[in-house]
Amino acid sequence: MTPTVRTRVAIVGAGPAGLMLSHLLAQAGVDSIVLDKRSRDEIESTIRAGILEQGTVELLDTIGDFSRARTVGRRHDGIELHVEGEQHRIDFAASVGRAVWLYPQHEVLRDLVAARLAGGQDLRFGVDVEGVDGGDRPRVHARGADGAALEIEADFVVGSDGSRSVVRSAVTGDHQNGYFREYPFAWFGILCEAPPSADELIYSNSPDGFALVSQRSPAVQRMYFQCDPDTDTTALTEHEIWGELQKRVPGTVLQTGPIFQRDVLRFRSFVAGELRRDRVALVGDAAHTVPPTGAKGMNLAIADVRLLADALAALLLDDDERLIDNYPERALRRIWKAQHFSWWMTTMLHTAPDASGFDRGRQRGELRSLVESAAGRAYLSEGYCGWPLDE
Ligand code: DHB
Repeated sequence: MTPTVRTRVAIVGAGPAGLMLSHLLAQAGVDSIVLDKRSRDEIESTIRAGILEQGTVELLDTIGDFSRARTVGRRHDGIELHVEGEQHRIDFAASVGRAVWLYPQHEVLRDLVAARLAGGQDLRFGVDVEGVDGGDRPRVHARGADGAALEIEADFVVGSDGSRSVVRSAVTGDHQNGYFREYPFAWFGILCEAPPSADELIYSNSPDGFALVSQRSPAVQRMYFQCDPDTDTTALTEHEIWGELQKRVPGTVLQTGPIFQRDVLRFRSFVAGELRRDRVALVGDAAHTVPPTGAKGMNLAIADVRLLADALAALLLDDDERLIDNYPERALRRIWKAQHFSWWMTTMLHTAPDASGFDRGRQRGELRSLVESAAGRAYLSEGYCGWPLDE
């Protein structure tokens, strides 16, 4: 007979959203089990964006002193925006009095996994979830690393299992139920051993396409340049990669060094058609995907979880359904704002392969209006640093 485990909340996916949710629930006195098909090592070494909004850092700060985001991470009070070789600084501090922290996502995950294990959390790696039965007594059907079947009976199931979510269909009915947008370009990303090329991140719109010069640590840098989505990462030599990057930031001398990782990031915008059905809900990439420009993904996931944690505590401890009933509406307000912001930064900074002369001129006009206007700079700063979590 398949062993059945009981818990109050079954959380599928041990990314930032799932782990943070288990943490907030434990603080409220609600038990949960977190399942992930990946190994702990895989989770902690997946390289993702490194920008934490102020609200994300504030939330990490309030739930324990495990957040190294403020000490190991670095505060950034602005970015450089390069428009056709002209360099403009967007000063977040002056525009909106907020900031972001550069602290890679895998570091956040290491902190969260360590804190959850230290707190005695039931966190299971190598568990493949095969399906979820929804309804009022939801069940999770899974298979452990040893191949043995496992059933979890819960009061509530949360899908924090990423863009290829298995839980999603228990909420939306089918995978096509949602809103999608594809983009005709992608990012060629590298990690290299080199010192930073600038104090702040550089986002550049050049006649040769977009580039982003980001950072990871004093000795490791992350950079991206716009490419065709079908680009083969092995097709370019290191020399050619540096050539592509350098020509897109003509006013800056890039610090180069050995490239030890290359990847192609495809762009997509997606919002699930439903975020909750009965006693199953979605958070993070299972509920929505944004293109990477502006690094909203993890921040948005953390914002979902904050709302859902309060809603689940009210439901499961006080039998109060009001917050869970309006979880989708409240979460979607922010999700669509972030969708707009990510789409806007993406389309403003990239050159579509079929862009006409008019499109290019209009885009230059948009960028000039932005950098030359205090209101434009404030709009970018507000979205980039993130809207307050209490909104
Ligand atoms: C990074 C990624 C982003 O999408 C972004 O806007 C800024 C930084 C990064 O990986 O460092």
